[in-house]
Amino acid sequence: MSVRLMCKSVPRCRWVFQTRFQKRFIIDMSYSHHFMDDKRSSIPSSMKKMMVTKRSPNFREAVFVQTCPVPTPRDRELLIRNRYVGINASDINYSAGRYNPSVTPPFPVGFEGVGEVVALGLSASSHFTVGDKVAYFNEGAFAEYTPVPVKNVIPLKESQPEALALLVSGATASIALQRLGELKQGETVLVTAAAGGTGHFAVQFAKMAGCHVVGTCSSCEKVEFLKSIGCDRPINYKEEDLASTLRREYPKGVDVVYESVGGAVFDLAVNNLAQHGRLLVVGFISGYQSESGLQPVKGATLPAKLLQKSASVRGFFLPHFMSEYTACMQKAMQMQEEGKLLCVIDDGQLDKGGRFIGLESVYRAIDYMYAGKNQGKVVVELSPPDI
Ligand SMILES: NC(=O)c1ccc[n+]([C@@H]2O[C@H](COP(=O)([O-])OP(=O)(O)OC[C@H]3O[C@@H](n4cnc5c(N)ncnc54)[C@H](OP(=O)(O)O)[C@@H]3O)[C@@H](O)[C@H]2O)c1
Repeated sequence: MSVRLMCKSVPRCRWVFQTRFQKRFIIDMSYSHHFMDDKRSSIPSSMKKMMVTKRSPNFREAVFVQTCPVPTPRDRELLIRNRYVGINASDINYSAGRYNPSVTPPFPVGFEGVGEVVALGLSASSHFTVGDKVAYFNEGAFAEYTPVPVKNVIPLKESQPEALALLVSGATASIALQRLGELKQGETVLVTAAAGGTGHFAVQFAKMAGCHVVGTCSSCEKVEFLKSIGCDRPINYKEEDLASTLRREYPKGVDVVYESVGGAVFDLAVNNLAQHGRLLVVGFISGYQSESGLQPVKGATLPAKLLQKSASVRGFFLPHFMSEYTACMQKAMQMQEEGKLLCVIDDGQLDKGGRFIGLESVYRAIDYMYAGKNQGKVVVELSPPDI
C-alpha cells in the first residue's frame, strides 16, 4: 500500500499519514503527556466513573459514582468518550464479585459502550484516529471516559445505540445458537426471557434458521412485541401456565432451549426437552439477586432425564468464544444495516422516571430490568453528541 507522509510544523509534533483510501491516521508523539479532541476543545481533567466499593448483588449498595482524573490512554489504547452504555443482567453479578472473586474493591464496572475516540496511544494510532466513532466490549464502561485496548474496539459509522445491543446480547444469541444449538430447519426452539436484550436476538436468529419459535415473557405488551419480531408462540407466563401450555401444545417436547432464567424454569425446560434436545444454559437471572447467585434446580434427577431422551445441557459464556466474536459482529452489523436484524433499544422512555440519561441513570436502568419492564436492550445515554 502506498503511504504519503507529511510532517506539520505545529508546537506538538504530529505526523499525518494519508493512504490512497483517504483514511487519516494521527500519530501524536505527545500522547503520554497531553492530547486534544477532534474539535480542539480540551478534555476535562476530571470525570465521573462508577466503582464497586463493596461486593454485593445489590447494585445500589455496591456501586458509587466517584470523581477521578480522566485517564491517559496507554500505547495500544483508545480513550473513548462514552455516548451510550449498555445494561446487562450480569452487571449485578459483576458488582457481587462473581466474575473474579480474587479482585478486591474498588474496581470499575460496566461491560460495553459506544462513543467517540478523544485520545489514543502511539500504536493505537495506526488503526484509529481522534473523532472515530466506536463500540467496545470492555470493563469500566460506566464512566464518562473509558480507556480501551484497540483489540476490544469495533469501528462504527455513527455512534448509535443499536451497535451496543449487538456487543454482548446479540453476539451471545448468535454464537450460542450457532455453536451449541445446532439448529435444524423445522425444529422447535424455546427462548426464555424472549423479549429481553439477548432473548429478542435469539428469537430472530432461530427464525432465520427456519425454526418454530416459542418465547416466554411477562406481559401482554411483550406478547405483541414478540409477535412483531416473528415469534410464533409468545407465552405470557403470568396469564398462561407455562408447563401445561408446553405439554399441551408441544407434546413431543422442544428441540432447543435458549435458557436464561434458571431455577424452576430450568427444571421445566429439562422436562420439556424432545429426544436429542439441547438445553443451552445462557444464564439464571432468577438467582442473581440472591446471596449465592443461584436458585435451586432438581439436579438429582437430571442424569436420568437426559439419558432417557439422549438430551444434553450445554453451558455458554461469551468470553470463551472470542475467536468467533469479530466475524459474528461484522455479520450482525451488516444484517442490521440491511434491515434483516432488528436491534431493539429500550432507553427507559416508558419508565416513570423518564429516559435513562446521565451516569446516575444506570441505577434506575438496572432496577427497571430487574422489574422485568424492558423490551429489547436497555441502554443509558451519557452525553449528547456535541459535548
Ligand atoms: N452467558 C453469557 O455469555 C451471557 C451473555 C449475555 C446475557 N446472558 C444472560 O442472558 C440473560 C438475559 O440477560 P439480558 O442482559 O439480556 O437481560 P434482559 O433479558 O434484557 O432482561 C432481563 C429479563 O429477564 C426476565 N426475567 C425472568 N425472570 C426474572 C427474574 N426472576 N428477575 C428478573 N428478570 C427476570 C425479565 O423478562 P420477563 O419479565 O419478560 O420474563 C427481564 O426483562 C441473563 O440470564 C444473562 O445473564 C448471558
